[in-house]
Amino acid sequence: MASVWHPCTQMKQHEDLPLVPISRGEGAWLYDFEGHRYLDAVSSWWVNLFGHGNPRIKAAIKDQLDRLEHVMLAGFTHEPVVQLSERLALLTGLGHAFYGSDGASATEIALKMSFQFWRNSGQSEKTGFISLQNSYHGETVGALSVTDVALFKDTYAPLLRQSAQVPSPDSRLAESGETEEAYLMRCVEALERHLQAHHHETAAFIIEPLVQGAAGMGMYAPLYLQRARQLCDQYRVHLIADEIAVGFGRTGTMFACEQAGIQPDFICLSKGITGGYLPLSVVMTTDSIDQAFYDDSVARGFLHSHSYTGNPLACRAALATLDIFEQDDVLAKNQLNAVRLGSALSDVARHQLVRNFRHLGMIWAFEVNVDDPHFALHFHQDALQAGVLLRPIGNTVYLMPPYILGDEEIFLIARTLLTLLNRFTLRSID
Ligand SMILES: Cc1ncc(COP(=O)(O)O)c(C=O)c1O
Repeated sequence: MASVWHPCTQMKQHEDLPLVPISRGEGAWLYDFEGHRYLDAVSSWWVNLFGHGNPRIKAAIKDQLDRLEHVMLAGFTHEPVVQLSERLALLTGLGHAFYGSDGASATEIALKMSFQFWRNSGQSEKTGFISLQNSYHGETVGALSVTDVALFKDTYAPLLRQSAQVPSPDSRLAESGETEEAYLMRCVEALERHLQAHHHETAAFIIEPLVQGAAGMGMYAPLYLQRARQLCDQYRVHLIADEIAVGFGRTGTMFACEQAGIQPDFICLSKGITGGYLPLSVVMTTDSIDQAFYDDSVARGFLHSHSYTGNPLACRAALATLDIFEQDDVLAKNQLNAVRLGSALSDVARHQLVRNFRHLGMIWAFEVNVDDPHFALHFHQDALQAGVLLRPIGNTVYLMPPYILGDEEIFLIARTLLTLLNRFTLRSID
């Protein structure tokens, strides 16, 4: 407590709520020092895809450690970064990979690249960014500028660059009596109106495809992405897909944009890219964007860097993660996992306190209709006591489990959710 300042935390709350010291992880489980274990139902902040202590990812990192732990990527290159870039190019259809370390650094890279593309192309008035209402793209100053979460943003408002927010197609925001489709079209029209008025001063529209994670797993139909792609083409504005949370199978396809059949100008990837083992992020982009930087003039190049850009250990973890996807046919298996977990949750979905029960790929979410202002904290604590790590966002409870749940884990999650919901029902009656 004295020496470690924890992320996204009011440290004073830990006077009453002890931190949970973890000694080791195995599969979907985290173990403390006293023999308790916790089922990691949120994949340790959405990063861990194939469990803790995965033998294949560990072996790849150990092997790489014996060869080369790190070399700077300016002026040097190495096998893991080349292989990873080529494989990601095949998977995304975007042939140029620029690396960062965390999700927010990928957001920064995409925003700066888009801005400089227009400048290098003689359109230096295109400097603005659009994002969705309730968007989340990270916490560094540039990323926070396109994030729309008041609690994270308001304090820093004087530091941030203005950006524009357009209505989110999150289906929970439809008016009562309005269909999801009608609401989505209303959001498309609002985007079009904004682009009509501001395209000449807009560099890019950044979006979380299909699921707005930090907004409480707000989900929307692929049609919005298709229309956004058309409008961005029509008005010559880049489309940046922030797949930091939803990439690598989370929504059922390798990347969420595939469900809309669209190709963005930039894809930001991180979190699951290394299976949750080492920090790595990457921005993938097109030939034509790459070409706008390729020049005799140094200043026209993309002069951005992080010390650990393209770290070999992290790239090997990412290559091992991609191998698991291929060798184990993970996307097909996840469809079966999703059916198993989905049917185990049927009583949860019907529970009297549950609203908007929704599911996409390996994400489940619902709102709990209670008045408790500290609901998230209380639910988190009660779930931990029952041996399940959950971290509700406001009144939204969500599951983002690793892709390796067995029957025991599925049963525990479903039983815990139901028990806690019943307990909250009793409390709300009191
Ligand atoms: C959609 C999205 N973008 C960006 C980020 C930021 O990633 P990081 O926390 O690794 O900086 C997150 C993190 O949750 C995210 O969900």
